[in-house]
Amino acid sequence: MKTETNRSAKKNQKNSAVLNQAQPSSPNSRKALAEPEVNQRSPEIQKFDARIRLPLGLSDKVCKQSIAALNQVLADTITLRDMYKKHHWQVSGATFYQLHLLFDKHYDEQSKIVDLLAERIQLLGGVSIAMAHDVAETTKVERVPKGREEVPVQISRLLSAHELILKEARQYARAADEAGDDGTNDLMVSDVVRTNELQVWFLAEHLAKAPLTETTDSAGTGEKSAQSAH
Ligand SMILES: [Fe+2]
Repeated sequence: MKTETNRSAKKNQKNSAVLNQAQPSSPNSRKALAEPEVNQRSPEIQKFDARIRLPLGLSDKVCKQSIAALNQVLADTITLRDMYKKHHWQVSGATFYQLHLLFDKHYDEQSKIVDLLAERIQLLGGVSIAMAHDVAETTKVERVPKGREEVPVQISRLLSAHELILKEARQYARAADEAGDDGTNDLMVSDVVRTNELQVWFLAEHLAKAPLTETTDSAGTGEKSAQSAH
């Protein structure tokens, strides 16, 4: 009881201090009203693994399953997106210009998917993974070196990351469908799978050994074939 009284007295003191600050009389204390209060910290309002309930007509179990799946795809998609920007900056060689533009186009498209995934996690009551250090701990995409690499290696790394995301997104889409979470299923199929499949096509074609200016014969001797000469 005594502790309760002490707590109440402290609260009243704090309230009157706030009130005094809000109604300052001197010019100096009025300045305090305009002064931003920086370096504020407090405990999290929702832990990463916790879920808040929203009236979605989906069970807690289903939402948690979808949140975990979406966070894995999110971490891998952020990694792929950032790999595109790295390659956009570091690409070199005869195809520099077209790849510089293509990598940035795919970066923009992956950024849109990142936002869709993160916002779906939040709307399901979860917490979306966001910061680079947390993404690095979570992603299944192979770590890329800091330095520059040749174009075929850049493209191969991107293709591997796409394939990993495609496999997991299809698996999570089926799980969401079976659980009745149509929204997550739709996002996985319509946005993640469709976009990644298309980007794989645009990338993989760069690794074909198609000749640029002169055809070769079917025996691979380097001579022009009789058919192609016409
Ligand atoms: Fe740029």
